[in-house]
Amino acid sequence: MCGIVGYIGDKKAQPILLNSLGKLEYRGYDSCGIAIANNDIEVFKDLVRVKALTESLKPHDGKAGIGHTRWATHGEPSKINAHPHTDCKGKIAVVHNGTINNFLQLREMLAAEGHNIVSETDTEVIPHLIEKYYDGDFEKAVTRAVKDIDGAYTMIAMMAGEHKLIAARQESPLIIGVGDRENFLASDVPALLDYTSRVIYLEDGDIAVVTASDVKITHDGVPIEREEQKISWNIEDAQKGGYEHFMLKEIHEQPKVIRDTLTDFLSNSKPVVELAGVEGSTLENMIIIGCGTSYHAGLVGKYVIEELLDIPVRVEMADEFNYSGQASPGTQAIVITQSGETRDALKAIQRLKAKGCRVIAITNVIGSTVTRVADRVIYMRAGPEISVAASKTFTAELISLYWLALPYARVDTARLDKLVRDIRQLPVKVQQVLDNEDKIAAFAKKLAKFDNVFYIGKGVNYPVALEGALKIKEISYIHAEGYAAGELKHGPFSLLGEKTPVVAVVTRDATYEAIVTSIKEIKARRSPVFAFVGEDDDSTGDLADYVFKIPGVDPFLSPIVNSVALQLLAYFTAKERGCPIDFPRNLAKSVTVE
Ligand code: AGP
Repeated sequence: MCGIVGYIGDKKAQPILLNSLGKLEYRGYDSCGIAIANNDIEVFKDLVRVKALTESLKPHDGKAGIGHTRWATHGEPSKINAHPHTDCKGKIAVVHNGTINNFLQLREMLAAEGHNIVSETDTEVIPHLIEKYYDGDFEKAVTRAVKDIDGAYTMIAMMAGEHKLIAARQESPLIIGVGDRENFLASDVPALLDYTSRVIYLEDGDIAVVTASDVKITHDGVPIEREEQKISWNIEDAQKGGYEHFMLKEIHEQPKVIRDTLTDFLSNSKPVVELAGVEGSTLENMIIIGCGTSYHAGLVGKYVIEELLDIPVRVEMADEFNYSGQASPGTQAIVITQSGETRDALKAIQRLKAKGCRVIAITNVIGSTVTRVADRVIYMRAGPEISVAASKTFTAELISLYWLALPYARVDTARLDKLVRDIRQLPVKVQQVLDNEDKIAAFAKKLAKFDNVFYIGKGVNYPVALEGALKIKEISYIHAEGYAAGELKHGPFSLLGEKTPVVAVVTRDATYEAIVTSIKEIKARRSPVFAFVGEDDDSTGDLADYVFKIPGVDPFLSPIVNSVALQLLAYFTAKERGCPIDFPRNLAKSVTVE
């Protein structure tokens, strides 16, 4: 994780670095720091967020610098562990995103050679390695240093007296922003949006030497051209737009996200086998892989694809799959990752390909690493999601999965037509949920008082319960567990009672009677029940303590409207508890470490 930035040009670097860093705090916010060069390098870092660092600094005139916002991996969050890190003489400064596997050996070697390493981080070996290899040629020293490093070492280095930034990309993202008499570096696009829409995505193994007027990229020592691209996201997309939190803004953007994602598919609609580049072959089974929210989207996909396509679908958490998962050659694999940078998901692709699977990636980020390693890419059109808790990208992932499945649906035309009609109606239905958010906010006031909560669902809404529980624990710090409704009686019932509420997602499908029975059993154990039920469901209301009616949609599509309601429940509960909603403790938006 972590966000890194760099600037070199004809303007003062300090405000640009701090502004850009602020846009990357979703990647980590344990501490932050910047280094600015004039003749010497000055480092300003602390155990604070970017806003506090900004307020504490005096203006600096330097026109080149680097910056970092940290998600701690090696060493606790502290001032000394904050980046940038420097060499013994303080002449070389480095910011780094990733983890160095062999840092202990490197540290021992450097210490034995007299280097004074002061932090607990893996990163600090990098400036010392550059110092070790420096014989008057900064570029040569960086190139030599990275050869010693095993792991993910995307970094930017600067050196006193050298009017250049040197960046190396390995297994974490790094983008060059191209300007007029100035150039930028950043881990992600939002950091660049205030300054330029021209970008160059670096590839693993690239080393870039960036000056105010030039960008030179080499790969394995050979000069290489990387195509300049234009970013389509605009500044407003990455701002709060009058909402109190990014998360609320992003929840409210969902009708538009559904429309945009659908529009894209409608204009490019291709059946899944064509997308996978396997025309003519039959789809016999499928494996879907993701992490966190994306894994939950995959679970919804399983219910939908198994029923519509009548093929078995396996869903695996990427990290588990990476150690023991099996897949037969030729299996169609879908890897879902909104950021396109999640380390576990990228590693799963390596394993899938080694086993001879074809991989379709579903992602939100054009140019992200996943787009380079998958066989085919499906882009959702959610726009930048800044809040650490995923909301609109979950919905866009579901729309992408529906759209993948529909062309292959082995159902009669009337059912297919209805599904397509209903999917087009989703923006309106989601808007109806949003228009009634005050009612959900009132439920949240009650829920916020509890310390533990169960979420239950059944069938296609079982993953919705998992996702609802993930959302509330992530941002409100209430301990929550998602369960398949029928499983609750096989153990967790011992925890039920007045102090343990249950949030139930009830849909009028084949599971309806069973989940109503579960709610009766739960009420008999005196747990308060918050029920999210279909608009035509007048009976569950008599059982539950609090009832929210969800606009009617095909049960297959109900995960979308139900999830929006649960996102609002999590949001308002976290707000009621005074939590830092967009940046929950210990988390980061894109998890680029194992
Ligand atoms: C969701 O709210 C989380 N922040 C997290 O579970 C996230 O979905 C997971 O880390 C996967 O991210 P990705 O989709 O970018 O791969």
